[in-house]
Amino acid sequence: RGPRSGVPVMVAVHSTRLGPALGGCRMWRYRDADAAVGDVLRLSSAMTLKAAAAGLSLGGGKGVICLPPGPAPAGDHREEILHDFAEVVAELDGSFITAEDVGTTTQDMVAIRAVTPHVVGLPETTGGAGDPGMFTALGVRAAMRACAQRAFGSPELAQRTVAIIGVGSVGGSLARLLAADGAELLLADIDASKRALASALAGASWTAPVDALKADVDIVAPCALGGMIDAHTATHLRARVVCGSANNQLDDDAVADLLAARGVLYAPDFLVNSGGLIDVSLELEGYDRAQAQRRVGQLEDVVGDVLAHAEERGQTPLQAARELAAARLAAAV
Ligand SMILES: NC(=O)c1ccc[n+]([C@@H]2O[C@H](COP(=O)([O-])OP(=O)(O)OC[C@H]3O[C@@H](n4cnc5c(N)ncnc54)[C@H](O)[C@@H]3O)[C@@H](O)[C@H]2O)c1
Repeated sequence: RGPRSGVPVMVAVHSTRLGPALGGCRMWRYRDADAAVGDVLRLSSAMTLKAAAAGLSLGGGKGVICLPPGPAPAGDHREEILHDFAEVVAELDGSFITAEDVGTTTQDMVAIRAVTPHVVGLPETTGGAGDPGMFTALGVRAAMRACAQRAFGSPELAQRTVAIIGVGSVGGSLARLLAADGAELLLADIDASKRALASALAGASWTAPVDALKADVDIVAPCALGGMIDAHTATHLRARVVCGSANNQLDDDAVADLLAARGVLYAPDFLVNSGGLIDVSLELEGYDRAQAQRRVGQLEDVVGDVLAHAEERGQTPLQAARELAAARLAAAV
């Protein structure tokens, strides 16, 4: 428990084999501290996989602040909590670097920086990368181009039909990017206020999330919550490609085999959504937005290589991405 706030704060460093562990600080309500420990461990190993698969010289780690029941902390109490968390980060002396995540903001990173320099994801006004949602979307678009090349023989997304499920920070930015590319969009969200985006974008229409998943489109982009594709929904997909930002899109890894058997190309979510991580990690070298755009755009080649590797070896892209990440980790000294 943090000495100032009394709130349990924790950091898990899963691997520093490829470099310092970079992982967001999640501020969330858990059933109890044990559930928070389980989550921080699971999330930290996922970050090792994500960084290694994306070809970054970063390890995997994660931070969790386990909130008590009640409203989200604000004001001085929020600052006490963040300073308690920052002290744990400071003790790790650079082997762990934190950033924003679910429940934390770029302003929270400013509070953390008052205690430790080992934090990225700072606001643009302080020379940071700002909200990474746009760069995550750019990465999804890059990955989608690689998928289109493999599935349709061309990376161009003009006239491709794409269903985006969840049009929040990432899905909304993705919709704007793809509309500018000339794609035909089907947008869906449980928040009806997001329907305005479908009216605002050329070539976009609106549908219910359950229909978007089964729609007769070229590409489905899950950009809401995880677990959207299970053994049942996998059999109803009509798209040739699944490529979106949501974490843990498949409710089980075995669903990747089901999709492959049906001829659906599933691009591994942890690779597709690594644009935000690539973006904030560039703060470590002195942030440059144009460089961030270039580096995130390179995900097209990274995903293309994974898809080629999978085809050569008769694997699913999920297996291939895991294998490439494991090989990078094994080769590191
Ligand atoms: N923001 C990032 O940079 C980033 C990076 C990596 C991964 N991700 C993942 O991408 C996904 C989207 O992140 P975000 O930052 O855009 O979140 P967000 O909260 O801004 O947007 C999510 C949207 O999904 C909608 N939604 C929720 N449940 C839904 C459902 N069942 N059907 C349809 N719509 C639903 C919400 O109403 C909201 O509009 C999350 O899974 C997140 O973990 C985000």
